Amino acid sequence: MTAAADQWRTELASWVIPDDILAAAPESPWGFPVDLFRVAEPSTADTPSRRRATDALPAGGSVLDVGCGGGAASLALVPPAGRLVGIDPSPGLLAEFAASADRAGVAHAQVLGAWPAAAPEVETADVVVCHHVTYNIPDLADFAHALTGKARHRVVIEMTDRHPMTSTNELWQRFHCLTRPTGPDATLAAAVLADAGIAATVERFERPARDIPRQVVVAATRRRLCLPADRDPEIDNLLGADHTFPSRATTCLWWDAH
Ligand SMILES: C[S@@+](CC[C@H](N)C(=O)[O-])C[C@H]1O[C@@H](n2cnc3c(N)ncnc32)[C@H](O)[C@@H]1O
Repeated sequence: MTAAADQWRTELASWVIPDDILAAAPESPWGFPVDLFRVAEPSTADTPSRRRATDALPAGGSVLDVGCGGGAASLALVPPAGRLVGIDPSPGLLAEFAASADRAGVAHAQVLGAWPAAAPEVETADVVVCHHVTYNIPDLADFAHALTGKARHRVVIEMTDRHPMTSTNELWQRFHCLTRPTGPDATLAAAVLADAGIAATVERFERPARDIPRQVVVAATRRRLCLPADRDPEIDNLLGADHTFPSRATTCLWWDAH
């Protein structure tokens, strides 16, 4: 393992929540709530991630969306995309993905599983997209090589510049007197890929805000903080008026498959 890969893994592991706080949590802080990743309307924003993917897509081409959640990354590519395959370990999110793809009138398939273990179950696609998943992946090099292995033309990763949990660090200090980590970040992810022989182009941008109801953001923040629902008004008060979940400074990492 290279120094960057080792640092990536170590910094991710540092987000562990102390046992006493976890034991007192009414709900698991680690899940991906369906209502947070629901795609009410596919985005039409002209982001580097969308542009790099559509540039490599033939008309009616196929997209593999790894860690699809509700499908935000791939639904934004219809058209030109004509077929979407979503893979995710969450059955609830896969159902959301399927419902949104139906509404968009695009052909689709779902695979229940985690990447890269489930990679052998999916077909090769013209473009592979993977948005906001990397901070869950300790072994980023293997993960990325498996993305390349299923792409006919291009891989596009999108991630926030900073670990998404950093947006709650002040709240952790306030509610639990706990100093949380700050890394890893997108710069380190790019270094891990480079060390793995993946020459990714790095583009930074400010992603548009997602239209998420305020009470959904408050509830998700409360769950992440391991607090009960009766703390919602307090959390609502502490979150800034323009709080976004996660933050918006974003990095697109893309490379061609062959
Ligand atoms: C922050 S959400 C992003 C969802 C979607 N890509 C988006 O941009 O809205 C992270 C997603 O990655 C999924 N996920 C986490 N670990 C994964 C893995 N090893 N393989 C595939 N998906 C994973 C989660 O279930 C969740 O749906």
